[in-house]
Amino acid sequence: MIKRWGFLAALMLMTVSTAAQAPDHSKLLGQIKAADKGQLAVSEEDGRFLRLLIASSGSRRVLEIGGASGYSAIWMGMALRDTGGRLVTIEYDPVRAKELAGNVQKAGLSDIVQVVTGDAFQQIPKLQGSFDFVFLDAWKRDYKKFFEMVYPRLDKGGLFVAHNVVNKRDEMGDFLDAVQKHPTLWTTIVSPSGEGMSVSLKR
Ligand SMILES: C[S@@+](CC[C@H](N)C(=O)[O-])C[C@H]1O[C@@H](n2cnc3c(N)ncnc32)[C@H](O)[C@@H]1O
Repeated sequence: MIKRWGFLAALMLMTVSTAAQAPDHSKLLGQIKAADKGQLAVSEEDGRFLRLLIASSGSRRVLEIGGASGYSAIWMGMALRDTGGRLVTIEYDPVRAKELAGNVQKAGLSDIVQVVTGDAFQQIPKLQGSFDFVFLDAWKRDYKKFFEMVYPRLDKGGLFVAHNVVNKRDEMGDFLDAVQKHPTLWTTIVSPSGEGMSVSLKR
């Protein structure tokens, strides 16, 4: 009996210490949102959707264009912890890029998320290899140019996801035309929170 209680106590202690070690993502995500005065970050629902999409597709080589302060990167990083993958996120603004790197560190995801500071048009050609998941969330009028740049480096079976395709669709008509009429893409538009995301599968 005493032995059994000892075992249970040890198990409880282990559980408590594991919980204490795990970074509190929800608290950190809430803090990033609260500090996001320019409302740049994706909605919580869209963050959850990105996490689910990466986990369910088993994506491992992820590129984010437009990282801001790291809200979406942390949602994606949580899924990549499960898939064994990595994310490169590019942010133009040096102040935001510094916040992004700090938030990734607080989230305990520095081994998964690499922050690149600079203009993605210049930084993407310097990255090695192909991608199996791309999340585009930079300035909306650049979407078509980014799509054309990244499409050749997207794996067959890979996903290209773009944000704000519902609430800012007027700023990216050319991009939406391109992904919806593309001969080797299946594209659908989802709207977990009203901002909207196009999800395109390369066949
Ligand atoms: C809507 S915010 C991204 C929000 C972020 N995905 C999130 O949910 O936390 C857009 C970001 O893209 C960055 N950006 C715009 N054009 C860029 C470019 N050409 N290269 C890199 N970053 C860019 C902006 O500085 C801005 O921080």
